Amino acid sequence: MTDPLAELQCSHLDRLERHYAETLSSLGHDGVLLYSGHPAPHFGDDQHASFQAYGHFQHWTGQADLAHSWLLVCPGRRPVLFLHAPDDFWHLPASLPSEAWTERVDVMKGRFDEPPALPRGRYAVIGDVDAATARALGAELNPGALLMALDEGRVRKSEYEVACIGRANRQAMAGHIAARGAFLAGAAELDVQLAYLQASRQRESHVPYGNIVGINAHGGVLHYQHYDTLPPKKPLSLLVDAGHRYRGYCADITRTWAGAQADGLFHALIEGVAQVQQQLIAAVRPGADYVALHERMHDLLAELLVEHRLVLGTPESAVASGITRAFCPHGLGHLLGIQVHDVAGRRAVNGAALPPPDKDPALRLTRELEAGMVVTIEPGLYVIPMLLDPLRKGPVGREVNWERVERLAPHGGIRIEDNVLVTSDTAKNLTPEVE
Ligand code: GLY
Ligand code: MN
Ligand code: MN
Repeated sequence: MTDPLAELQCSHLDRLERHYAETLSSLGHDGVLLYSGHPAPHFGDDQHASFQAYGHFQHWTGQADLAHSWLLVCPGRRPVLFLHAPDDFWHLPASLPSEAWTERVDVMKGRFDEPPALPRGRYAVIGDVDAATARALGAELNPGALLMALDEGRVRKSEYEVACIGRANRQAMAGHIAARGAFLAGAAELDVQLAYLQASRQRESHVPYGNIVGINAHGGVLHYQHYDTLPPKKPLSLLVDAGHRYRGYCADITRTWAGAQADGLFHALIEGVAQVQQQLIAAVRPGADYVALHERMHDLLAELLVEHRLVLGTPESAVASGITRAFCPHGLGHLLGIQVHDVAGRRAVNGAALPPPDKDPALRLTRELEAGMVVTIEPGLYVIPMLLDPLRKGPVGREVNWERVERLAPHGGIRIEDNVLVTSDTAKNLTPEVE
């Protein structure tokens, strides 16, 4: 069967070859050896941690699982993939998919626990390589200027990359729909997780990040990491933050659902956060400052909190006093690509650091938006006692309606997250609607 993405993938590779050629020549390198990486062994054991190949290796190959493999890129020559696929009767040796990129590289199959020898010249080696290995290769290890330039080359996505993120989104959404169905049928967190994996067709070790499946108060733990095996007595809410990976590219989607016994306040707030999210997506365009969008999220959340009488003062004072940041301590979102929190979100095009504002240390994207970026837009509203309790005790406590906060607390929290492409003049939501 012909690959429907073949043409786009070829253009992606053309672009990648140009970018590497310009970058390597401007930095005086003859070539670069990209290491895929390998899974870390558990200490004193023969088992390994889960694994994901280095982002720059995936940028060429889309292969998230290829370990101990190397790609040599020398401008003017065909890239060479040293594919670690030793004879092995314990495991199935690695093989390559039928994709256009495999026609554009020379493939050497063999055993590559040790790197291949490099030609004479000035080479860099990048990835999870130790200093002794780099020395033995005679290569510079992870040079900062090169890494920075290669990271920058991943910020604006090619059409091929956007298509892959779109496919990952469609698969992930099938999982979210199944997760909602399982929850409404009375499932435990573990059952919701299994329903998600089944419908999105992925094994747990292949998800781009650990699925967050929080029922009731667990929805208020931002990166909740467990799966209860028993259903709750009173299912009020479900928050699922889960994605998919397609040819290396990630989806990162969150949905929050109300259970049959949820408080009307929670239903209304889900609707309110969804509207906040749509307003923010409508403001995504080239030239928009993401930090300003993040601040706009706080303004809109403050209005929502006042509208639903969780906050008794004005929206302006709720933002100024830090109340909104206690209800939503994470950033509006981040760049998305081969990594869920993709590279270079806090760096300007010229490489200058763009640290997050002091009051928003968790904000992962601080740059101006440009056509081709894919970002997440993920406003949230949570009852997190560790953050709200200190407010209760201080002067700001008078501005919060604690009785309504208590009503909300057993529902945990709300987050709604979509993946949005910045187009040449506006934005396109890559996350499909839930039917
Ligand atoms: N899934 C992690 C995040 O939304 O950033
Ligand atoms: Mn995200
Ligand atoms: Mn997420």
